[in-house]
Amino acid sequence: MERTLAMIKPDGLSGNHMEKIKEVILDSGFEIVEEAVVQLDAQRASLFYVEHSSRSFFDSLVKYMTSGPVLVMILERPDAILHWRVLIGPTDARKAKTSHPNSIRAMCGVDSEKNCVHGSDSPQSAAREILFFFGDVRSDTVEHDEL
Ligand code: TYD
Ligand code: MG
Repeated sequence: MERTLAMIKPDGLSGNHMEKIKEVILDSGFEIVEEAVVQLDAQRASLFYVEHSSRSFFDSLVKYMTSGPVLVMILERPDAILHWRVLIGPTDARKAKTSHPNSIRAMCGVDSEKNCVHGSDSPQSAAREILFFFGDVRSDTVEHDEL
């Protein structure tokens, strides 16, 4: 089993895409282990995307990410990280509409900024991003000899 951090960004929630996205998630064999609705402030959004802090789109990205609440989820299934990245499609939602028409970003994204959803891109980012939003969640296996 593997876990990844998925997020429905502000336009995804305000555009009422949550139900449809969750349907895709569950139909694709993921379990939603944890979920939370979060309002990011500029400091938290900047920290989440710190790897992009020198990019020209950064200020606009932070503004967008703080424009409304987001829904963050820990998703679990075998190969969760790669599987979720394939399901969401390419970063630029405009391109997704032609190259990956069945992807989530094609379905509900607008452009390379307002692309509706996030997915961790590696085991390292998944660990960091899950910790960022949920703290130290452990897998729910209770050892019998602990009881
Ligand atoms: P990136 O990590 O390249 O994409 P992904 O979300 O697919 O991992 O970029 C992170 C976010 O930064 C992206 O989801 C939206 C924003 N962004 C822009 O606003 N403009 C851009 O040109 C790019 C590349 C990203
Ligand atoms: Mg990325």
